Amino acid sequence: MNNQEQQNVAHPFNEEAWNRETYEAWVQRFGTPDEAADRIGKQPLKSLSVLGEAIGDPAGQRIMNLMGSNGSKAVALALLGASVAVVDFSPGNQRYALELAEAAGVPLDYVVSDVLKLDMTTLAGTFDIVFAEMGILHYFTDLTPFLNVVQTLLAPGGRFVLRDFHPVSTKLISSRGTTAKIRKHKVDGDYFDTSLEEQEASFAKYAEGESPKVWLRKWNLGEIVTAVAQNSLSISRLDEEPNLSGDSFDKGIPKTFTLIAHK
Ligand SMILES: C[S@@+](CC[C@H](N)C(=O)[O-])C[C@H]1O[C@@H](n2cnc3c(N)ncnc32)[C@H](O)[C@@H]1O
Repeated sequence: MNNQEQQNVAHPFNEEAWNRETYEAWVQRFGTPDEAADRIGKQPLKSLSVLGEAIGDPAGQRIMNLMGSNGSKAVALALLGASVAVVDFSPGNQRYALELAEAAGVPLDYVVSDVLKLDMTTLAGTFDIVFAEMGILHYFTDLTPFLNVVQTLLAPGGRFVLRDFHPVSTKLISSRGTTAKIRKHKVDGDYFDTSLEEQEASFAKYAEGESPKVWLRKWNLGEIVTAVAQNSLSISRLDEEPNLSGDSFDKGIPKTFTLIAHK
């Protein structure tokens, strides 16, 4: 794959959508950076959820958060003693994240760049941990260029943590009803569908005006595991997780997964 082809695996419409008013959307969702920093500062480990266990003790670690959005996970890790960098192509996200870090009193290195065009000059081989989470892989129509970036950023022996939505929930099952009592599920998707799907960007429900759209390629679990293994990363764990927000809500259905691999 040449450079131009490599860059085209991230859909151009997605960058345009994410560059709209994300800052205001995060203020709607999480409050001002001061308010959010106050909340994260009270319980930084709790705010990391499952990611905290997968990353382990962050103190003294050099950590890269790819497509790290509003910086809330990065700031929690910095509060726990890590030296953290974020890459994301949205300047609105950067503004929120840097204000959040300042309010929390921690340093944060936030690079605005397409992750596939990241300048590696000073970054290659320097991270103990590279992680990405919750709405990542579906932005790529080929997983290899993204995993090459992960591989290049990691120091030898470094750990890759990927937490994302489980394809059984995103591709196979559709669900209706907002309480456990009336919740209904239908198996009406195609787990093996490889087409691109148009959807609202995840911040759209907190943004004003026309809903920004993104194009998504939803990967199944076999495709994800195979892509990681074929890009020189040794997989050590793959955990599938139920809905962690309530004991009985969507019981028995995998909602997210966490994959850990090493360089
Ligand atoms: C759904 S969010 C990821 C979730 C995030 N960790 C969170 O919990 O908010 C997707 C993020 O990826 C960024 N993004 C999407 N494609 C990208 C690319 N090719 N390069 C850099 N950032 C990208 C978007 O700006 C957005 O912040």
